[in-house]
Parts: sequence; structure tokens; C-alpha cells
Amino acid sequence: MSDALRGRCVVLGITGGIAAYKAADLVSRLRKAGAEVNVIMTRNATQFITPLTLETLSAQSVVVDTFERPERREVEHVALAKKADLFVVAPATANVLAKMAHGLADDMLTTTLLAFRGQVLCAPAMNSGMYLHPATQDNLEILRKRGVRFVGPEGGRLACGDDGIGRMSEPQTILQACEACLNRERDMEGLRVLVTAGGTREYLDPVRYLSNESSGRMGFALAAAAMERGAEVTLVKAFTTAEKPPVSREISVKTTLELYEVMMRECPGMDVIIQAAAPADYRFRKTYSEKVKKTNGQELVLEMEENPDVARAVGEGRRTGQTLVGFAAETGNLLENARKKLYSKHLDLVVANDVSLPGAGFGTETNIATMIFHGGERELTLRTKDEMAENILDQILEIRRGKKE
Ligand code: CTP
Repeated sequence: MSDALRGRCVVLGITGGIAAYKAADLVSRLRKAGAEVNVIMTRNATQFITPLTLETLSAQSVVVDTFERPERREVEHVALAKKADLFVVAPATANVLAKMAHGLADDMLTTTLLAFRGQVLCAPAMNSGMYLHPATQDNLEILRKRGVRFVGPEGGRLACGDDGIGRMSEPQTILQACEACLNRERDMEGLRVLVTAGGTREYLDPVRYLSNESSGRMGFALAAAAMERGAEVTLVKAFTTAEKPPVSREISVKTTLELYEVMMRECPGMDVIIQAAAPADYRFRKTYSEKVKKTNGQELVLEMEENPDVARAVGEGRRTGQTLVGFAAETGNLLENARKKLYSKHLDLVVANDVSLPGAGFGTETNIATMIFHGGERELTLRTKDEMAENILDQILEIRRGKKE
């Protein structure tokens, strides 16, 4: 058994399904693993299992939605949401998943869930027809995108007599999923991290622009990993096609000049700045408020002027204690060009990738890179961008530790 649950506070939401009886076993296992367990039951759940059972097993008072003493409930739900390290909903009925997906808060459980900002783990349990219904599947997708994790449901014989998918996972499996959620080291707690992602656009007229192939995936992977490791993450997002992770704060920009302004404003307050965006280096000297029309057979000559180098400007304004990370997208002389960027942009770390290699660079799920820092280099062979994000964050923390010593 891992130590992940020792001393941690788990809020367990129990909703009204037949699998609610298994919640008793889950509470004992969580307690045995060293967690403090606070149970919130919906009114329907109390039809399947009594609050007294859970109160006895958890050795804590159980919050049941009785609609009594509303002032106390107000305070209680905020307090629980604040202190929980993990929020588990088991069993999670189709109804509670729908409410969570759409932000409904009409009882203690859903109100507390809405006030909670940390990791949520759901163990769905329902009849297979309900589980496979497009409405439920859409809700699950919304929740997944928001970072909610799931364990089960599993296949087998259901309480309604049908065979199919919909059985809640066994308490032991849910316990393991809880450990996996908490096992992540929160080694970035207290750090303010800014990540840029995506490609900027330079508009010629209302419908035409110059941009690049950046999907935002590497920046998003870094933002997601930093969030999971406990950092407060500000995502400065240009144009992206990848799926955006949940972050603490998000700022959208269109052009490199807009990115520049946002960075000049935001960077002084940050501890770690990771610039994974691909800002367009040039903008059109002249732009048009109306669509440019073609002129029979004549050439169109467009002039461009250089945009500010955002990373360099951030580097020039750096203050002590900050760690600055840039990327270098190259198609030749990878290491030589990237090493120059470490100095010219006043960075602590450059992640260099040869964007012409298969499996690396823009738009792919994977990447191949070399991390270049003052005093060393480290090769990162082909791996997913999620894995690479973890390696980059590890390196950042190592650099920060080195500076303190
Ligand atoms: N970058 C920036 N502002 C720019 C261009 C790039 O802040 N106008 C940042 C990128 O976010 C990245 C790093 O600088 O972290 C390197 O980007 P890259 O496109 O590789 O280099 P450039 O500085 O544009 O140099 P070149 O295109 O000449 O290789």
C-alpha cells in the first residue's frame, strides 16, 4: 500500500444508487490507509445506507442534505471544499454527473463540489442504458475535459438484472485510484507559473493572416503538469488547436504585439515563465480594415516589419528569483542555434527541438528535444509531450534548487 493517503483529507460524496452500500467499505479502506474522511450524502443516498453507519466508520459527522439550518450548511460546504485534498463521488449516478457537468448546485453535495477547486474522482454506477446514453456520455466528456478523473464503471451483472457496463468499481479499485490521484508530488506548490502556448496571428485584413503550425499542445502539457504539481498557473494562449487543460487563470492574445503587452504586465509577478508559444516574428507594415480586393493581374507586394522578441524583452526585465524557459524551434544546426538563444534571450533553460524530425515539433503528440541550461545539456529522446512536460518541470526545479544553494 502506498502512503499517498496518509494524513490527507478526502471528501466522499455518496449519491443514491444501489452501489451506495459499498461506500461503507470504501470509507473503512480510506481510513485504514490513513486518510481523514468526510462524508456528504444526498437525500436519496440515505435510502440505501444510513448516515449512522458512515458516521461510525468515518468517525466524523456526516453531512446529509436535510435543508435544515441553511446558515450552517453554507459555512460547512465552503469549509469542506477548502480543506479537502481529494473529492471522491462514489457511487456517482447519471444525475449527479449531469449536475456536475452543468454546474448545478441544488444540494449540499453539488454545492460543495462547485466550491471545490482540487482533484475530483468519480466512480460512476448506473444501468448500462443510462451510461451509454449520449446525454451521459456528453456529460462525461465535459467533466473529463475539465480534469475530473474516473474509475470504472465496469461490466458485469447489474442490480437491475441486466448484463452490461455500469457496475461501480470495487472499493479496493477506487482506493487505488485515490492513491494514484494523490501520488503526484505537489512540488510546485506556492509557485506562480506563467506558460505561453500556441501561435500568434498577424492580420492583413479582417479575413487574412500570417501564422504558424503551433498547436499549443506542448504549452498545454506544461500548464497541466504544473497545475497537477500544485502551481498557480497563468496560461497566456494565442491560437491553438489542442485541448486546453484547466488552469488558474487564462489570458487570450491574438498578435505578437498583444502577447508582448500581456507579458510586460504579467511577468514581474511570476516565479517561473515558460514560453512555449510560437509568436510570429513579423507583422504587416500596412493593414486593411476592409478585405483586400484583387486587382486584375497585378502583383501584390506586402511589406513586413519585425515584431518585438518577447522572450528577449522578458529576459531583459528579469528579476532575481525568476526562472525563464524558452523553446527553440529549429530545422538545422539545432544545438548551436539553441545555445545562442540561451544567452541572447537571458534564459535559464532552452528546450531545443528540430521541428523537421518525424515525431517532433508542431502539431504532434510526441516530441524529441535537448534541454540546454547553464552548465549542462540533457537529451530527451522521443516521448509524449505530457512526459516531456514533466521532465522540463523537473529540470526547472533542479535549476531553482541549484540557485538557492
Ligand atoms: N519568441 C518570442 N518572440 C518572438 C519570437 C520567439 O518570445 N518574436 C520566443 C518563443 O516563444 C521561444 C523562443 O523565443 O520560446 C524561440 O523561438 P524561435 O521561433 O525558435 O526563435 P526566434 O527568436 O524567432 O529566432 P529565429 O526564428 O531566428 O530562429
